[in-house]
Amino acid sequence: MVTLAKLVIVIITTLSTSSTIGYEPIKGKDELTAVHVYNYTTKDSKTKAFQILENKCNVCHKKRNKRRVFTIENMNTWANDINKQVFIKKRMPKGKKIKLTSQEYQDLLTWISYTKTSNNGI
Ligand code: HEC
Repeated sequence: MVTLAKLVIVIITTLSTSSTIGYEPIKGKDELTAVHVYNYTTKDSKTKAFQILENKCNVCHKKRNKRRVFTIENMNTWANDINKQVFIKKRMPKGKKIKLTSQEYQDLLTWISYTKTSNNGI
């Protein structure tokens, strides 16, 4: 217990001294980490979303809607449209044969919300 109390005091003293002397660099580092995590998650959710677009959407679009074949390069520009067709109007995926699992809906939504946030300028 006593050691624990000492440890807490040491931590508090370290934190308070560093926040007066070295606050700026520490803040900068935290921000860097946050940006890194953000990029990582965004990239990951994009890859997942692309797999869904490729398997469940492009299979048909390649034949029936050639102007909207999604690629990893163009998919972000279609995010709003995809949101509208899949989640708001529920027109896509078209027909009864191809269905999305609830996990796939979730993954698409995650990508769409990250894409919207990043388009709004973080
Ligand atoms: C079985 C075929 C088929 C599947 C599967 C399919 N689409 Fe489509 N999609 C079409 C066709 C045909 C059109 C053009 C005519 C229309 O809009 O209905 C279209 C149009 C669209 C449009 C443009 C609509 C507009 O006019 O703005 C979007 C966006 C879209 N699809 C997204 C998707 C997404 C996302 C998926 C997968 C989750 C998907 N589609 C799956 C056939 C399909």
